[in-house]
Amino acid sequence: MGLRAFASGRVNLIGDHTDYLGGLVLPMAIGLGIEVTGDRGGNWVMLGSDRFDGVAEVPIGGVDDPATIEPRWARYVAAVVDEVKPDDGLVGMVQSTLPAGSGLASSAALEVAVACALGADRSDPVALAEACQRAEQRAVGVPVGIMDQLVALAAVEGSVLRIDCDALTLAQVPFPEDAEIVVIHSGQHRELSGSAYAERRAQCEEAEALLGRRLRDMSPVDVEALDDPVLVRRARHVTTENDRVDALAAALAADQLAYAGELLVASHASMRDDFEVSTPVLDEIVATVRGVRGVYGARVTGAGFGGCVVALCRPKTRINGPVVWRGRPAAGASVEILDDDQGVPRPR
Ligand code: GLA
Repeated sequence: MGLRAFASGRVNLIGDHTDYLGGLVLPMAIGLGIEVTGDRGGNWVMLGSDRFDGVAEVPIGGVDDPATIEPRWARYVAAVVDEVKPDDGLVGMVQSTLPAGSGLASSAALEVAVACALGADRSDPVALAEACQRAEQRAVGVPVGIMDQLVALAAVEGSVLRIDCDALTLAQVPFPEDAEIVVIHSGQHRELSGSAYAERRAQCEEAEALLGRRLRDMSPVDVEALDDPVLVRRARHVTTENDRVDALAAALAADQLAYAGELLVASHASMRDDFEVSTPVLDEIVATVRGVRGVYGARVTGAGFGGCVVALCRPKTRINGPVVWRGRPAAGASVEILDDDQGVPRPR
């Protein structure tokens, strides 16, 4: 019996570089994503890809070190197999509508789609997201947070997802009817393993160790007690960004779109000046897009170091440039069993 599993990529509206510090985030699913189709059975997971060369071939018992296998994209598959420990193998294909290396969480979508296709239990999205997060950390050795995997599993159509990454609690925030999200690509490919992501995380953890408290519990004034000006900037970004998450959630719920746009712009400045993860190209796109009639605000989204800009706009706002996606929040992961008799998909 065939099956089809789908997981969406995401765009983060606000709350970047906060998840791995137990902070707040406000992402949404975008509907572009990764689909795994295939047949369950046997003792191997064997997947081809429409985007990447080679075949991912992994025994259901897992491999010793997923980070060493080839082709490279198979590392994510191997790490997920190892976390999920499926009873049966899977032979099939991976198809993607999501540009990789764009800051739209394509690796999390791959992990979640593969986990779902392998029959992982989706009744506890936090537990499955944690398994996929561990898989990503093991596959590429980057100490990522839980946001991308959790929004891929728990997103609900029409709402953005507020995640408290310490309590691991979720709240759906309805997206305003009279607004639209537009995602614009910088053309700068972003590879987290080669970036300063781990360095930023380490700097924040050093700030927490020096101050003896967690950044999520501190105010921007508290972090001025640090001596090192670099650590002050990093910590200030995290504390102000956490505040902006709840401010944006409230602004969206109250349909205060002009204020929501200002929060995006303030977040971009913080990512650029305090966290130093923007690039001149991203800054330029944000500046240009902000000047377009109908745009409330824009910022770099995700880890930074390249990737995409997210803009909050009036519906149908015309934006020149490489628009990757536009629309309203999409749904999270789904699995369908394909009924061989009638060829009709049946939701599972
Ligand atoms: C990447 C990571 C996430 C998060 C963002 C930055 O997407 O996978 O966990 O840290 O960067 O907000």
